[in-house]
Amino acid sequence: MDPRISQSAKLLIWLSDRFPEANRSRFADEEAYVRWQFSAAQWLWPRVVSKCLDLQGKKVVDLGCGPGGKTMFYSTLSPAHIIGIDCAEAKIASAQRFLTSTARRRSNCEFRLGRAEATGLEAGQHDIVISEDGFEHFSDLEGILREAHRILRDGGLFLIMFAPYWGPDGPHLYNFIRLPYAHYFFSWSTMSQATRAIAARMERHGTPQTQSPALGLQIEQELTQLEQVSFGLRHLRTFFDWRALERAARAGTTGTRATDDASFATATPTQQAERDIAQLEHFINKISLRRFKRLLKLQIGWELVGFHRYVYQRRRAAFVITRNMWPIDEIYGSLVFLLRKAAGKRIRASDFRSLQTRMSIGRVLE
Ligand SMILES: C[S@@+](CC[C@H](N)C(=O)[O-])C[C@H]1O[C@@H](n2cnc3c(N)ncnc32)[C@H](O)[C@@H]1O
Repeated sequence: MDPRISQSAKLLIWLSDRFPEANRSRFADEEAYVRWQFSAAQWLWPRVVSKCLDLQGKKVVDLGCGPGGKTMFYSTLSPAHIIGIDCAEAKIASAQRFLTSTARRRSNCEFRLGRAEATGLEAGQHDIVISEDGFEHFSDLEGILREAHRILRDGGLFLIMFAPYWGPDGPHLYNFIRLPYAHYFFSWSTMSQATRAIAARMERHGTPQTQSPALGLQIEQELTQLEQVSFGLRHLRTFFDWRALERAARAGTTGTRATDDASFATATPTQQAERDIAQLEHFINKISLRRFKRLLKLQIGWELVGFHRYVYQRRRAAFVITRNMWPIDEIYGSLVFLLRKAAGKRIRASDFRSLQTRMSIGRVLE
């Protein structure tokens, strides 16, 4: 190992090596990435989302769609129309290219370059807005909530899914650092150092196969281990210093901007590592569940109709303790919120609690 690496980075690499290798095959090329997006959505939809949302015949908007693989999957669920919007030119170009490739051509799907907080879409004309893995990257979260509210019809639904910062992979360095919750114990600079060193090691020793398996199969390797954690757990006070966590999360929100990264599917570990580190520094807004809830409570005109969380089994080891002793949602890998546009309503803290005790989104809407 490089002798210039700090002792803490060495420790982090050693700990990270105790966890299974991340599957990087989606970064082989653009097509692999879009295929991965498609199959990830295909896997998640029936297990989590279809319980609360039916796209059939609906007018849908997907904010921050990236190269569009998930949007293309949603278009197979028979919406009347779906528009994917992203501010990164390269991603929209890629989405448009894949949409016109024969296998996925669908007349009910289109992509537009644009900003989620100013889509330019007509007001009150859409039934459903989706934002998946966007709220941890967007810089103007309030603006996006306002815009979603504007473009939805009354009673329309906004599905928000994101990975909170205090989840196992909050800093999004999971392609290299496999130790869950590493950011609770190591600084950003240590994590960046470790990321670069792990990438260099991959370059030296070769990386795992990066072939992209047939559509729909890759998810078997990546996500079949998704575990939906038992839902009946209530909040408990923890030993964590929430104020300190909150201050850190707030400090990380300044200066974030939307990613405009042309090389989203670069193949080499070193390029990927630099991309991930840049993302951590510029494109992760460190949104915590607590901050997100506070943001929602400040909005007028939304009703909270669903709340759900889950974790991937790859990270399950870390949940053996938390599941039984400190069942707090902040540390879950992924959060799902379903909001309904409802004039004059305001989300209250007790709404979250009642949803948690009533458990899954599906039951809430029954
Ligand atoms: C992590 S990707 C998620 C892509 C896709 N939704 C998925 O789940 O795979 C986040 C996307 O949000 C886009 N983005 C960030 N800020 C944005 C903004 N203000 N308006 C539109 N898109 C934005 C980025 O370009 C990026 O493609």
